[in-house]
Amino acid sequence: MATEIIKQLEHVRRKISKKHQRQERSRIGQFLTPAPIAHFMADLFQRDIEDVRILDAGAGGGILSAAAVEILTSRKGRLQSIEVTAYESDKQVLPYLEDALARCEALCDESGIKFHSNIRGKDFITDGVFLSEEGLFSGDGDRYTHAILNPPYKKINSQCKMRRLLDSAGIEVSNLYAAFVWLAARMLESGGEMVAITPRSFCNGPYFRRFRLDLLKMMALQRIHVFESRKKAFREDNVLQENVIFHAIRTKHTPLYLTISSSEDDDFHKMNIRRMPYQRVILPHDRDAFIHLVLTDDDKDVMRRMQRFGLPLDELGIEVSTGRVVDFRAREHLRSQPEVGTVPLIYPCHFEHGFIRWPIVSNKKPNAIVSSSQTRDLMVPKGYYVLTRRFSAKEERRRVVAAVYDPKRINVPLIGFENHLNYFHARGKGLSSNIARGLALYLNSTLFDQYFRLFSGHTQVNATDLRKMRYPTREQLIQLGTYVNKHMPDQEIVDVILQKVCANDG
Ligand SMILES: C[S@@+](CC[C@H](N)C(=O)[O-])C[C@H]1O[C@@H](n2cnc3c(N)ncnc32)[C@H](O)[C@@H]1O
Repeated sequence: MATEIIKQLEHVRRKISKKHQRQERSRIGQFLTPAPIAHFMADLFQRDIEDVRILDAGAGGGILSAAAVEILTSRKGRLQSIEVTAYESDKQVLPYLEDALARCEALCDESGIKFHSNIRGKDFITDGVFLSEEGLFSGDGDRYTHAILNPPYKKINSQCKMRRLLDSAGIEVSNLYAAFVWLAARMLESGGEMVAITPRSFCNGPYFRRFRLDLLKMMALQRIHVFESRKKAFREDNVLQENVIFHAIRTKHTPLYLTISSSEDDDFHKMNIRRMPYQRVILPHDRDAFIHLVLTDDDKDVMRRMQRFGLPLDELGIEVSTGRVVDFRAREHLRSQPEVGTVPLIYPCHFEHGFIRWPIVSNKKPNAIVSSSQTRDLMVPKGYYVLTRRFSAKEERRRVVAAVYDPKRINVPLIGFENHLNYFHARGKGLSSNIARGLALYLNSTLFDQYFRLFSGHTQVNATDLRKMRYPTREQLIQLGTYVNKHMPDQEIVDVILQKVCANDG
């Protein structure tokens, strides 16, 4: 009996998915949870209590509530009553939600457990901001004991009413999914549990910093499950986000350990699982509270090897910025080939064997930008710079690809770096030749790329991410630089050089 409702709701999920056009589902962030994932999520709940109050925010057809009810009633514990509060703003799916909760009621009746449901066919954010305000609840008794959610994934427009509402509650997020999680966390009682499936993007990066800090202050992460394939968790919906499921408890006490697991897709039998000291996943002095998803022995080894590089970039006197020329905004100043009055405009297509080759014959990207009072601020002075690509195709071998801009090869007073690049510099000016070469070698090493992937779930390489990394000392960079002459050595040689120059220092 235990998984019957979830199985039936899997058919409902298909029906709803067919009814709404993909475009429409995308607009309202409606990607419904497949049955095996719903089951896995609900099974992460741990508490054995008499009276359960479940919050399902963005409930869709109710599969997550149903999974929670099925799992909790199937356990032989102290359970006596369940109340489900389900928010869903899409009126079209409400009949399915009502049906799912009616099935839950029947199941509870059979098991002699009291059941009550509240369907709230309205916006969760408006209610959540109001209801989660401190002081509104008379005590823990009004708060939820469990929250289970697959929140809508949708950018929050900076001008909209919802944005203002969230601002008023001190909730600084750019995506609806984080707002749902944040509010749900606030609506939990002390000791209450949350299980959510969300994109992995909140684990790092500047946009989710406040969210991470506040979430980790309110909640103790117990478990994070990572889907290794970007496509497979919501494969029928063709969702390309990297997803994680996490389980957290509302408490101020940080646990000593947390569990990290991973699976290719929703076949949880083939799961990789490990217990990690909490402080290895969220480093104690990290002001950005990045969540490092360390999965395998190899990953652990990468973390260990990276520990020998202790220097933040600013202590090296080096900064990293994003290229200032946004090509579509400077269209009238762009030239296909250099001409009098122009300076080089560098794109990723100019990378060749670890250096910049310019100009090139390309009918896609311009090689030059007009130098005038209007464009002057977009340019940097002649010097050695290290450039990295900001975007990589998802199946590419490397995320981080670096090249040296060598002023001896392109002898011009000013250069424009396009916005698809990040550039390393010394307060807006060039670096020394050997530091630039050594830094490019380090960035091109397998170790650096592996470490980068550990905490970055997306294909973008942001300047903030690069600032967060650890770097070798100046002396090591200079020494590494001596190995880079006309072009960057092959990958194996890069890795051997890094090992040779830096191995004895850690
Ligand atoms: C990703 S779907 C998940 C549905 C369901 N929980 C599941 O797991 O299958 C998110 C749901 O949130 C609903 N939703 C979107 N914005 C909402 C809002 N502001 N308030 C309440 N529900 C919302 C969508 O209609 C959609 O059904």
